[in-house]
Amino acid sequence: MDLQLTGKAAVVTGASRGIGLATVSALVGEGMRVVAAARVITPELKATGAIGVPVDLSTPDGPARLIAEAEAELGGLDLLVNNVGGGDAGEGQTGGFLTFTDQQWHDAFDLNFLAAVRTTRAALPRLVDGGGSVVNISSNGARTPHAGPITYTTAKAALTAFGKALAEEFGPQGIRVNTVSPGPVRTDLWESPDGYGAALARSMGVEQEKLLAQLPAAMGMVTGRLVRPDEVATLVAYLASPPRGQHHRRGPPHRRRRGQDGLNRPSHLKTGLRTTITAAVTATRTPTRRSTRRTAAAQRRRRFTRHDKEPTQ
Ligand SMILES: NC(=O)c1ccc[n+]([C@@H]2O[C@H](COP(=O)([O-])OP(=O)(O)OC[C@H]3O[C@@H](n4cnc5c(N)ncnc54)[C@H](OP(=O)(O)O)[C@@H]3O)[C@@H](O)[C@H]2O)c1
Repeated sequence: MDLQLTGKAAVVTGASRGIGLATVSALVGEGMRVVAAARVITPELKATGAIGVPVDLSTPDGPARLIAEAEAELGGLDLLVNNVGGGDAGEGQTGGFLTFTDQQWHDAFDLNFLAAVRTTRAALPRLVDGGGSVVNISSNGARTPHAGPITYTTAKAALTAFGKALAEEFGPQGIRVNTVSPGPVRTDLWESPDGYGAALARSMGVEQEKLLAQLPAAMGMVTGRLVRPDEVATLVAYLASPPRGQHHRRGPPHRRRRGQDGLNRPSHLKTGLRTTITAAVTATRTPTRRSTRRTAAAQRRRRFTRHDKEPTQ
């Protein structure tokens, strides 16, 4: 399947392993030129052929440095994948609300929310030049916040809201912003002996592998298994592909209809990915101009109705 990404330029954050590494591989496989950021550039990341930039994205100036380096390497930018997130220490993340300190809240927001805000702020002027898209990796935990550390899921909920607001503001300028919200994915976050999964298993008094085996049923995952990083990466590449209108502008009307997945994508790309989208991860759709107009009209109607019901003096 040709996603029409050949030669285009992308930045992927949190790229040295897990979902980020799989995303870099998928985008390079589609012929994209990729700048990939992490604190440590792993041999696996080097092997993808992407340009690795070592940077701490939880710092205030790290994201802007990354985008400056990406511009120097790539020129313009077609895609930003805000993937960095999670956190370093598994320990201290499994308690209730009262156990979290201010510092832990700051750390969670710096990495899971502000890194995306700062990277997007630096990247958007480059994207605005020629259209392009942003894909944020949030989490199913943004909607089921009891399922992870409260600091993490709250920061991810902020990221989801951020993506939606960006989509509404920049959609009319041709920038697409989508948010991918995976359930548990088999990465170090769950599998490493130092990660969140290990700490959670210890706190529950069960073996880590046993916990991972029980997780899909406990979380009601329709896949019946944990998600693979390459499944998330496939969806990211799909969302990065040019909007359907650019392929089928002159096609017959039935080719221009939105498909069952509700995403504004080339119709011939939808079939193979529908399973991934519905079963493994979910994506928040960038509003089209028409849906933005519909939303505005609905808001006007609601305001009118509220006003109508106000008691008269
Ligand atoms: N795994 C899941 O179950 C799951 C589910 C839903 C959402 N997500 C989200 O998906 C994203 C990727 O998760 P993952 O499981 O693939 O994580 P992961 O395996 O822990 O990888 C995290 C990546 O981010 C980099 N990173 C961490 N801190 C960084 C920092 N301060 N500056 C720059 N890079 C940093 C890491 O490299 P260095 O350590 O070398 O910096 C690594 O490349 C995260 O946003 C996570 O919240 C994951």
